[in-house]
Amino acid sequence: MTLEEAIKSRHAVRAFKKQPIDQTTVCTLEKEAAACCQESGLHLQLVTGDEKVFDCLMARYGKFRNVANYFVVAGPKDDPLLERKCGYYGERLVLLAQQLGLNTCWVTTSFKKNDERMQLAEGEKLVCVIAVGYGETNGKAHKTKSFDDVCSLKDVSDSFRKGVEYALLAPSSFNQQRYRITLKDGKGVVEAKWGFFTKIDAGIAQYHFDVAFM
Ligand SMILES: Cc1cc2nc3c(=O)[nH]c(=O)nc-3n(C[C@H](O)[C@H](O)[C@H](O)COP(=O)(O)O)c2cc1C
Repeated sequence: MTLEEAIKSRHAVRAFKKQPIDQTTVCTLEKEAAACCQESGLHLQLVTGDEKVFDCLMARYGKFRNVANYFVVAGPKDDPLLERKCGYYGERLVLLAQQLGLNTCWVTTSFKKNDERMQLAEGEKLVCVIAVGYGETNGKAHKTKSFDDVCSLKDVSDSFRKGVEYALLAPSSFNQQRYRITLKDGKGVVEAKWGFFTKIDAGIAQYHFDVAFM
């Protein structure tokens, strides 16, 4: 599956099969998480076989079922770009997981934040987690904004237009898509608007946008 196909087939999935992720896939995801940490200075960690983190009222209320694997998405508290980077690099892992036949859901609220398997170092902040596993279904498409809702540029290249299309297919908290896409020094930039989790969302959408130029 190409990255473009992963972008088009990905949807949030909250209910998973009770099937452990196979070892080769775990290794591939861990290798990519390590590469992302190296590049970004973030702390991205795959935890497998841990059902405790989603064993809480909030998770059940949020319709999460059989979540036993998740990425811890964390990084240095004092990094001014922490949330944006978490979105960008976390989504790199999400799309790889999709390419490997897995399903995912970004989660900021419906989980227990104090599990001993989330090994945070001094000075690090837990931003969110990403549930990952074999979904009961592949999810379904969400309602999305249009090009004109997020971008006021008229004369753009085909790649830029494709980048906006990919960004609009990205997950965002509460499906809010609160960002604008502009050109800065010849490069498309996804700028977060004010709101909860919008900086993470902008980082996620930026990764999707950048796929159009890879
Ligand atoms: C940063 C972020 C945080 C999210 N937090 C939650 C959450 O706490 N609980 C939940 O059920 N879904 C959560 N989601 C999933 C969104 O609701 C979902 O991505 C959105 O509705 C769009 O649907 P899609 O991912 O299928 O395109 C989150 C998504 C993002 C990007």
